[in-house]
Amino acid sequence: MTKFNRYLITAALPYANGPVHIGHLAGCYLPADIYVRYLRAKKADVKFVCGTDEHGVPITIKAMKEGITPQDVVDKYHKIIGDSFAAMGISFDIFARTSAPIHHKTSQDFFLKMYNDGLFEEKESEQYFDPEKQMFLADRYIVGTCPNCGNDKAYGDQCERCGRTLSPDELINPHSALSNAPLVKKTTKHWYMPLQNYEPWLREYIIEGHKEWKNNVYGQCKSWLDSGLQSRAMTRDSNWGIKVPLADAEGKVLYVWFDAPIGYISATKELTENWADYWCKDDTKLVHFIGKDNIVFHCIIFPAMLKAHGGFVVPDNVPANEFLNIEGEKVSTSRNWAVWVNDYIQDFPDQQDVLRYVLCATAPETKDNDFTWKDFQDRNNNELVAVFGNFVNRTMVLMHKLCGGKVPPLHEEFMEDMDREMLKEFGLAKEKIENSIENYRFREALSEVIEFARKGNQYLQKSEPWILSSVLEKIKSGEPNTKHPQYEGKSEAYLQARIDISMHICLQMTANLAIFANPFLPFTTKKICHMLKVVDRMLEWDNAGSATLLSVGYTLRGPELLFKKVEDEEVTAQVKKLHDGLKQAMEAAAAAAPAQVEETPVAPAKPEIQYDDFAKLDLRVGTILQAEKVAKADKLLKLLVDIGTEQRTVVSGIAMHFAPEDIIGKQVTLVANLAPRKMRGIESQGMILMAEDNGKLVFVNPAEAVKPGSGVN
Ligand code: MF3
Ligand code: ZN
Repeated sequence: MTKFNRYLITAALPYANGPVHIGHLAGCYLPADIYVRYLRAKKADVKFVCGTDEHGVPITIKAMKEGITPQDVVDKYHKIIGDSFAAMGISFDIFARTSAPIHHKTSQDFFLKMYNDGLFEEKESEQYFDPEKQMFLADRYIVGTCPNCGNDKAYGDQCERCGRTLSPDELINPHSALSNAPLVKKTTKHWYMPLQNYEPWLREYIIEGHKEWKNNVYGQCKSWLDSGLQSRAMTRDSNWGIKVPLADAEGKVLYVWFDAPIGYISATKELTENWADYWCKDDTKLVHFIGKDNIVFHCIIFPAMLKAHGGFVVPDNVPANEFLNIEGEKVSTSRNWAVWVNDYIQDFPDQQDVLRYVLCATAPETKDNDFTWKDFQDRNNNELVAVFGNFVNRTMVLMHKLCGGKVPPLHEEFMEDMDREMLKEFGLAKEKIENSIENYRFREALSEVIEFARKGNQYLQKSEPWILSSVLEKIKSGEPNTKHPQYEGKSEAYLQARIDISMHICLQMTANLAIFANPFLPFTTKKICHMLKVVDRMLEWDNAGSATLLSVGYTLRGPELLFKKVEDEEVTAQVKKLHDGLKQAMEAAAAAAPAQVEETPVAPAKPEIQYDDFAKLDLRVGTILQAEKVAKADKLLKLLVDIGTEQRTVVSGIAMHFAPEDIIGKQVTLVANLAPRKMRGIESQGMILMAEDNGKLVFVNPAEAVKPGSGVN
């Protein structure tokens, strides 16, 4: 095992085509920041680089939609995204841009080195060209008729009606999704990287060399390698991007996934003249924090590029997280189902650590996870307020009351088992937290931090300095101690010593808590340091576990509240905001032009069935008579449906898509012979058929109104 002498930590460069949401934070920026803050506290030589990804199709599409230039788009979002990260305490050493000249030069030099070494294949191919927009189109932006099912809105890569994977050539009557113009074919030349040539090396590097990578990451790499790598074009036809630095390459730019990861290198160059130490020396530990949709690019393609170019270190780990859902639904930027970081900062000013806490505690480290505002409230109120905040606050209030605002002495001779046990926990907690962070298990580490505070509360409860103090008061004033027989006959010296010991230990714990919490909750740590009147140097990780951080007799400041309760109204308002945002986005989408580029593909086609299988279904047209929300179930509507011979109660998961009052009177198709099922205590007697278009739900109903109960065959 190499010993690492410096660290280079990267977080995926977000596309500068929209603000960031909390899924981005939980997926990579927060874990990366926690890791870096920990390393800095360990006095490691570390650089933390990020920036915006300002090229590629996502940017040009956004510009077209908003009727502004790509440059306007990236300028606007670079600022918004950067501000959000800064406000949340994401402590990059640099937040660069891929539009920076140094990045263009670095990427072009990288390409040229590979070109001159003969590592690209030049290939000509015929590709579809939009004569109106004067541009070649990516497959997703070509629409036409599906040869399989006749859907006339199939995309160049897939038909969303029948699920068939397509190539643009298979489409009948292909035309542009951008201009609607019929397409022409043009020959175009591109430079391909033969990834298959790097397969043996990649196997050695990942499959043999990095068995410790997270299961989700290792598994994805293995399946890519097992299914065989192919040549991949590293250039594109576009007028937005980094020009291909060759004479015969007019109108060609570098593929965005070629240039963007090189952004990590150019950002390091912009940051420090010693950049080569971080990129070229073997004893650098390079770690890429990303979301799971970026795994192949960071584990296969970029390492292959680095290897091909030569002279660079390759990632030691790529701790990718899965996705964070919101209130049980997948995040969708087009449907505006997201919690935007800039909105959060406005709605919860000075409560960055609450979000950091909740996102870390629920981070999708091993599987997709769910964020709910109720859970946000519960974790804040039950963990941050009731455990962490409560311990620190009780300690500070009591020490001012019982010890005159100064750190009291320890009095070894009066120490008991409970004190010694508590002191042992300091070192144990340090070890556990450290071990979890170093293995990228941030949730586990954070729960150990809270556990430490919880032990503090228990210790305070057991050592009860406020009782000791009231007994002491009594004795001093000559009254008998009748209420607390456990301290019968104890001397004044004993009582005072026990108070001092308890408070001394709680204060040293508070100082440790500041060190432990620092990577996770930096704003809170600052407040604790202010109260304890200590400087940042105390936060060095080497100090963790020490029981002598605050010296005896040192005067401390008064208590300051660390956390406040999140009220029910705040939760309700946030949930409403989400639903309102969704509704607005759906209305806007309905009003907008039809040629929308969708973000998720449909489910694949199902296996063939026989007529008898189909004939088992009793499908009937019904009319919705009543519709209402189901209490305490965000997604459910309770419907009363007239099917001619009878009325059926149906519970349907469509509340996020329709307002009850809007669907009364609508005709729907009902599966009338589905076995009844209880949902939230209501028996549902049938199921309503819905068409799903990239998350949007539409009723399946007859083209003309028919008599309720009409059969569908
Ligand atoms: N912009 C990409 C995304 O948001 C991530 C790019 S990461 C980099 O998915 F490595 F390419 F920079
Ligand atoms: Zn089809």
